Amino acid sequence: MTLMLDVLQGRRAGVPPVWFMRQAGRFLPEYRALRERHPFLTMCHDPGLIAETTLMPVRRLDVDAAIFFSDILIFLPALGFGLEFKEGEGPVIGKPARWTDFPALDPEKQLKGVLEGMRQTRAALPQGKTLIGFAGGPWTILSYLAEGGSSRNFETAKALLFGEPETFVKVLDRLGESVLRFLQAQQASGAQVVQIFDTWAGTLPFAHYERYYLPVLHRIVEAAARATPVIYFGLNLTPYYPLIRELPITALGLDTPASFARAREVFGSAFPLQGNLDPTVLLASDTAVEEEVRRIKAEAGPNPHIFNLGHGVLPPTPVGRAATAIRAVRRAG
Ligand code: CP3
Repeated sequence: MTLMLDVLQGRRAGVPPVWFMRQAGRFLPEYRALRERHPFLTMCHDPGLIAETTLMPVRRLDVDAAIFFSDILIFLPALGFGLEFKEGEGPVIGKPARWTDFPALDPEKQLKGVLEGMRQTRAALPQGKTLIGFAGGPWTILSYLAEGGSSRNFETAKALLFGEPETFVKVLDRLGESVLRFLQAQQASGAQVVQIFDTWAGTLPFAHYERYYLPVLHRIVEAAARATPVIYFGLNLTPYYPLIRELPITALGLDTPASFARAREVFGSAFPLQGNLDPTVLLASDTAVEEEVRRIKAEAGPNPHIFNLGHGVLPPTPVGRAATAIRAVRRAG
């Protein structure tokens, strides 16, 4: 048992386990040094580099969990899409003309290096630390896929949702099948927990989330939760709590604006919650960090809590500031 798995079983820890979303990335100087020598996508498919990068924040900051170094878009090339990460621009996805028709992922065949990286990471992970696997929520993946990259308003994805709901559901279902297979392959390769990053789920109308999206998520979560605990995370999800409560998730990741009190009202006080330090506090000062960590621990109260940020750690974050946050989390009181 690890501290994080304990909390995910609903046990209350005196000191919450702590890890940071996007902890295996650019805020670490050792990551930036490695990235100077290898393109991002090369790193994502090299087992040795995956293990090395995943373990960087564990070694440097002694966080309680390691999140697998990969990306939510990593399997798109296996489905027939182009994928590049351009400096300062983010992902660029190439779509064939009839892009709504694509096969489902075969992870053991198509993501061999990725899964081998997971196995090597697990073998090298110190006792007591937890290995987290992940995938994107189908709507979040679709929101990049349809637009060919990052976007503000998700015009193409939403044109599909509002204009051709049957095709929309078909595409979401197909992506959902690949998401599930990817999660299950990670679980079989050593992931002890999985997190679904559904960053943009909070951009769907409530009615459409309920009618079209919830059933797709339900199938994924139900199957994945048979193997390991499942954490669900997205931005601006508070209005959807009554729907999300119907999912057999183990824990909910809160973003920065979310309230522990509101989440507990809907999910109950025994339900594990994760979050939600504002990532920009880590750019401010040690004193601000200590104050905010104290406030969040008080809000979380004596209930099952995994300390995290409300979104990913920002690349300009000083490593020492992250260490200050972790020390403050572990301080009694
Ligand atoms: O959390 C971790 O440290 C594990 C690895 C991880 C990455 N991406 C590595 C990465 C995880 C869990 C993700 C999730 C992810 N990827 C999300 C959901 C979470 C969120 O932040 O909202 C999304 C939307 C993506 C898609 C993605 N990947 C974008 C939009 C970009 C470009 C913008 C950016 O943040 O750089 C990426 C690139 C990416 N993914 C990097 C890393 C370390 C930077 C690549 C580099 O080194 O240049």
